[in-house]
Amino acid sequence: MTTTIAKLADHVGKEATIQGWMYNKRGNGKLYFLQLRDGSGTTQGVVVAAEVDKETAENAEKLTAESSVKVTGTVNKHPKQEGVYELQVTKIEIVQLCTEEYPIAKKDHGIDFLLDHRHLWLRSSRQWAIQRVRNTIINATFEYLNQEGFIKIDAPILTPNACEGTTELFEIDYFEENKAYLTQSGQLYIEAAIFSVGKCFDFGPVFRAEKSKTRRHLTEFWMMDAEAAFADHEDNMKTQEGLICHIVEKVLEKNMAELKILERNTEPLTKVKAPFIRKTHEEVVKELREMGSDIGEMDDLGGDDETNYTKKFDKPIFVEKYPSPVKAFYMKRDPKDPRRVLCSDLLAPEGYGEIIGGSQREDDYDTLLQRIKDHNLPLDAFQWYLDLRRFGSVPHSGFGYGLERIVTWICGLEHVRESIPFPRTIYRLTP
Ligand code: 4AD
Ligand code: MG
Repeated sequence: MTTTIAKLADHVGKEATIQGWMYNKRGNGKLYFLQLRDGSGTTQGVVVAAEVDKETAENAEKLTAESSVKVTGTVNKHPKQEGVYELQVTKIEIVQLCTEEYPIAKKDHGIDFLLDHRHLWLRSSRQWAIQRVRNTIINATFEYLNQEGFIKIDAPILTPNACEGTTELFEIDYFEENKAYLTQSGQLYIEAAIFSVGKCFDFGPVFRAEKSKTRRHLTEFWMMDAEAAFADHEDNMKTQEGLICHIVEKVLEKNMAELKILERNTEPLTKVKAPFIRKTHEEVVKELREMGSDIGEMDDLGGDDETNYTKKFDKPIFVEKYPSPVKAFYMKRDPKDPRRVLCSDLLAPEGYGEIIGGSQREDDYDTLLQRIKDHNLPLDAFQWYLDLRRFGSVPHSGFGYGLERIVTWICGLEHVRESIPFPRTIYRLTP
């Protein structure tokens, strides 16, 4: 019967057919070892030419890398390797024979070549493993938030103005004489939705036209924004902590094989348990200066600062209460120090840096109005947002995570571009 490689264990001693691709072959004439993959996993097919029909023996001989096949055989447990199953092949049906040489051969290719061939590179075992971990992270996010009473609310992608009030937006023509912008975060919209549903989250692609060329920046990436009514800065951090612990736990439960392919040291991941480390921006700046950084007291943390600082830890670190001028207009001032805001950035350890940004929101109408004016934002465009503070305003908080930053950290990747199926950066829009 037709099954998948992941389910071969259910067919030991019996005949099974798998459908997939041959990615490698050894042997000649009498004996062939076919390395097969079908999306669910990989296996080896052993072909003894003298024991199969003529057509199958010929097919084994002519099969080329990445040809698509249906392979039938008896399922055997690997004599030495636990959990590994092989096929003693009885029949090979070729679905499509590749007649040209596969562009991504085994030899080392440069990163640009691989990215130009991303549509093919995705098939490699490393990329397969990363996408599977990414899938677990997405599912674990939905699972945790639903369990905590957050419901999914979809925010729009086409927006009339900036959420954060920056100029780093992709602008498009919107019919005659109008402009629209691709969203950079659904936050403001899900803030509106909490007045209907209490707690909610969005999850979708966001776009940033910033000219950052770092290993942490994409121009299109996937963000999850969560928001809750009657939640303060402390509640907000609790939710983030719970969410990240749940995600890491699920990956360790479901993706040990993938992490092994990625050669990820899982030791630090097992330490991702609540409570996370908590530092104020003031403390972090002080420590960074002692480490030799020239960061100013009221400066934002730079990429290098985040890298150097987080290398010291194997648990995520909340950095709280940044100076107000380096953060967005909607963040609520700290009543104990109005130069700072009730915000937190969650930094991943091992040098990875920011994975989440969040804050308590300004809920007072007059203060928010003043903040919008101070930031020179177009008042007209924010009237609907101000309405939220006119009609039943409540203390509320939320945060947004960058999916690719989390995948990069958990998979132990060097660069964010491998964490998304088709990366978009300032230099790359293809394939
Ligand atoms: O810190 P950011 O800019 O926060 C917001 O957009 C808020 N509106 C979120 C909220 O409070 N609901 O972005 C959130 C996260 C960052 O912490 C980071 O993980 C990721 O998005 N991120 C990027 N990921 C990849 N490429 C980029 N250019 C990114 N910019 C931010
Ligand atoms: Mg941020």
